[in-house]
Amino acid sequence: MYTKIENLLLLGSLSYEATAAAHGQQASNNGPADLDWHPPSKTSINDLGSVINGTGIYGFIFNSSTTPATSGYGTYNWCNMPHVRRQEYVVPPKDYKLEYVELIHRHHKRTPYASNTFPRETYPWYCDDEALFYYGTPDPDGHSAQTSWQIFTSDSNPLAPEGFNGTCQFPQITAGGLNDSRQHGKDLFDVYHDLLGFLPAEYDNRRVGYRVTNNVITSQVVSQVVLGQYAGQFTDKPVGVAIQPDSIDSLEPGYTCEAASDMYSSYGVGSDAANWTLHLNESAPLFAKLDSVSVINASDPDWHQWFDHYFDNLSARLCHQKPLPCQEGNSSNCVTQDEADAVFRRGQYEYSWIYRDSPQSLAASTASFGIWVAELASNLRSAMGVENTPKSSTLYRHNVAHDGSVSRLLSILQVDVMVWPGMGSEIVFELYSREGCYFLRVLWGGQVLHSSNPSLGRMDLIPIQTFLDYVDGLVGAKAAKIPGLCEGKE
Ligand SMILES: *[C@@H]1O[C@H](CO)[C@@H](O)[C@H](O)[C@H]1NC(C)=O
Ligand SMILES: *[C@@H]1O[C@H](CO)[C@@H](O)[C@H](O)[C@H]1NC(C)=O
Ligand SMILES: *[C@@H]1O[C@H](CO)[C@@H](O)[C@H](O)[C@H]1NC(C)=O
Ligand SMILES: *[C@@H]1O[C@H](CO)[C@@H](O)[C@H](O)[C@H]1NC(C)=O
Ligand SMILES: *[C@@H]1O[C@H](CO)[C@@H](O)[C@H](O)[C@H]1NC(C)=O
Ligand SMILES: *[C@@H]1O[C@H](CO)[C@@H](O)[C@H](O)[C@H]1NC(C)=O
Ligand SMILES: *[C@@H]1O[C@H](CO)[C@@H](O)[C@H](O)[C@H]1NC(C)=O
Ligand SMILES: *[C@@H]1O[C@H](CO)[C@@H](O)[C@H](O)[C@H]1NC(C)=O
Ligand SMILES: *[C@@H]1O[C@H](CO)[C@@H](O)[C@H](O)[C@H]1NC(C)=O
Repeated sequence: MYTKIENLLLLGSLSYEATAAAHGQQASNNGPADLDWHPPSKTSINDLGSVINGTGIYGFIFNSSTTPATSGYGTYNWCNMPHVRRQEYVVPPKDYKLEYVELIHRHHKRTPYASNTFPRETYPWYCDDEALFYYGTPDPDGHSAQTSWQIFTSDSNPLAPEGFNGTCQFPQITAGGLNDSRQHGKDLFDVYHDLLGFLPAEYDNRRVGYRVTNNVITSQVVSQVVLGQYAGQFTDKPVGVAIQPDSIDSLEPGYTCEAASDMYSSYGVGSDAANWTLHLNESAPLFAKLDSVSVINASDPDWHQWFDHYFDNLSARLCHQKPLPCQEGNSSNCVTQDEADAVFRRGQYEYSWIYRDSPQSLAASTASFGIWVAELASNLRSAMGVENTPKSSTLYRHNVAHDGSVSRLLSILQVDVMVWPGMGSEIVFELYSREGCYFLRVLWGGQVLHSSNPSLGRMDLIPIQTFLDYVDGLVGAKAAKIPGLCEGKE
């Protein structure tokens, strides 16, 4: 039977049987790090019976960026996930001194990707309530007009755009998502500047750094995050944000890792393993209904090897208060809320399976996201000034990324209850010192992360060496193992 746990508000009304590690066992400082995969807790999310034959969506929210007070801020909200805020933030005991913070979050809410739109959308989607800027400046001159994109179609262009008509790029962060991004930045600044006096009041690129991926939507988000944190300081000063070359981007992640792709497709999307195809087969009536509305070909693999496309398609509408879709020309054939919930349960199940339940998930995620994790370890070492690295003056690094980044990181951390990381999903690494020793606290959705791996356990001020040993063991110092792992050599 599943038992209820109180301190994981994130999971709303979800009941679950926690693993021993997640029950609060503190990591031990002795012995080698445990590099094995440990299964997540059993919850309704990864219980196929509840997913296929259950109802509802565990109290999770899919239809507004605002979480109602009655649900509690920590509740899973796909449109705007809980993050560190002053109201919920727990300040560690006084003798712990905050030394360094690195955080990563998924971008905020957006339009769907064009590839996730139906062949025939029955209403347009407008983005006239925002502007996206794109320009370049030659240095040292440094000037540019502030040019923004104005999406248009013409009657001399006879082609219809993929998916929705209207004035958006699919995808782009919506005006609501930009507002959520700014609030996210403000909430963090409230804690790390106002409450803790940790971040400087003035923007200083030697102490604070931002990083984005090669997907432009992360740049749209970071522009509002920075404004939320340092409002009013940028009238004539540009803000550089870090980005790696597309082909080796560790944050997106964009680097090629064939062994990881092969592993994922051997047990997940596209695989014919019985423990993957069962939930798809048992969903035949649901797929038939969805296909009748979308007029997507029932043999189109993109839409039927997993629920991702229907999930994105339906949730993006709901987060922006748009109606669930009806079949073109048949307004009595519509997707119902119950059917949308059924899609959302399956999406959660798939993410749990791909990133946590499958015993191969740890190896696949380590290979495909291990470089970013090695960069994190290196940043933590610089913050401490250990192992011949001079102590760095950087206090805070802020990474804006994707669900693929956050999922892989949760997979590597072996989070106890895996969910599909919604918009704005955040993981924070806080490095503290006390009497010359260093400790790590990891916050997920603003609360201490519970790992099923007993050497990590409840990641509340664990000795930093435990974490570094774990990372080094999996990916090697400076990610030395990753090229080999990606070629399938190790
Ligand atoms: C769902 O219910 C049907 C009908 O009772 C049953 O045949 C099927 O095995 C159930 N599916 C799961 C995954 O439990
Ligand atoms: C969101 O859905 C819940 C549950 O169905 C409903 O009670 C609430 O009114 C909806 N909120 C919005 C903003 O549509
Ligand atoms: C959902 O899919 C339909 C059918 O392809 C498409 O027309 C629509 O644009 C999609 N909507 C979203 C929000 O992805
Ligand atoms: C989308 O635009 C095309 C081409 O202009 C037009 O034929 C079609 O009716 C429009 N669809 C909707 C749903 O507005
Ligand atoms: C974004 O916030 C501004 C106020 O700062 C508000 O006027 C606007 O309506 C918001 N946009 C959306 C889509 O929520
Ligand atoms: C899933 O199925 C594969 C192939 O049948 C098997 O090797 C693997 O152990 C199964 N995994 C789980 C977690 O049951
Ligand atoms: C699901 O259906 C496919 C195609 O009919 C079949 O090959 C596969 O064995 C089925 N999987 C399970 C678990 O029944
Ligand atoms: C669906 O796709 C299959 C395989 O590509 C094709 O043979 C079939 O004609 C398509 N059906 C429709 C209604 O377009
Ligand atoms: C419209 O949808 C309803 C409900 O699914 C269905 O019974 C009816 O046959 C459909 N009509 C047409 C013309 O497709």
